[in-house]
Amino acid sequence: MDGALREYLHTPVLTKEVIEYLKCSEGGIFVDATVGEGGHALEVLWASQQSRVIGIDWDEEILEKARKRLDKYAERVTLVHDDFVYLPLILQGMGIKKVDGLLFDLGVSAFHFHEEGRGFAFQKDGPLDMRMDKRKKSTAYYIVNHFPIEGIEEILKRYGEERWAKRIARAIGDKRQQGDIKTTRDLAEIASRAIPRRYHPRRIHPATKTFLALRIAVNEELKNIEEVLKEAPLLLKRGRRICVISFHSLEDRIVKEAFKRMESTCICPPTLPQCVCGGREKVLQIITKKPLTARPKELRDNPRARSAKLRVAERV
Ligand SMILES: C[S@@+](CC[C@H](N)C(=O)[O-])C[C@H]1O[C@@H](n2cnc3c(N)ncnc32)[C@H](O)[C@@H]1O
Repeated sequence: MDGALREYLHTPVLTKEVIEYLKCSEGGIFVDATVGEGGHALEVLWASQQSRVIGIDWDEEILEKARKRLDKYAERVTLVHDDFVYLPLILQGMGIKKVDGLLFDLGVSAFHFHEEGRGFAFQKDGPLDMRMDKRKKSTAYYIVNHFPIEGIEEILKRYGEERWAKRIARAIGDKRQQGDIKTTRDLAEIASRAIPRRYHPRRIHPATKTFLALRIAVNEELKNIEEVLKEAPLLLKRGRRICVISFHSLEDRIVKEAFKRMESTCICPPTLPQCVCGGREKVLQIITKKPLTARPKELRDNPRARSAKLRVAERV
């Protein structure tokens, strides 16, 4: 592979905002639950000499990149190869009860699209994999070749919000009759051909939503966020904050709802005329009523920031 690409670095989004909202200059123990190539983590370390970063990522290859990048600060950094849903156990294993900040920068890294053989990019030909965590069993290949057609349609509809889900799923079914669908190029072609040409989107590749939907399904991305947000805020010290950056409306909705639930002192269904749960302790105070988005300068420098939404809440 081209050396320049191998050294490709993911540009972190909304960095200034994250550092400010997490109160990084006050120092403390910060968990970067999606450390990736370590861009945000580096900024956290720079913000205060008194800070320590626990960086988690389930992708071993990308974690190696973070290790090299953060090497200069190794005594203040602990990197963990794991799924962030195990955050409470990870901290327990380190003897840490509470932390001073939590960051989730969701989804995939630019690294995943640039690295050969990972199967995330339709622009490159490669095996249909799409696992961020290679220890996971299910791949895009498995879903595309072994799931019932209705199941594939549902994935494309639900996670990709793809209006041509039925046609694409059927086209996948037809192609399967002739043999396995093996590569990203095969799948991109099937999806493109299934969408009538006059409806091809102008700005994005016609297979974009198909790839996004499969990636979310393979990595169970929405389930993971939902799971971790039930527990993670409880690991914060009072007055300290959680920042979540999402890139997809479904992710953002999960974050918004999770924060709202933890802010509320009542867990009764909204349809009940009065509270019957007896109330409960408020866990979070929402800091950003509306999600923060990138400023024009960042948008100019980093197009990926276009869809980024940052929500922040504080442990009370
Ligand atoms: C957008 S990138 C983070 C980039 C990082 N903030 C930086 O500055 O380089 C998201 C990262 O989260 C990781 N990731 C996604 N879901 C995860 C999970 N459930 N557990 C652990 N890591 C996860 C991905 O492997 C990817 O490296």
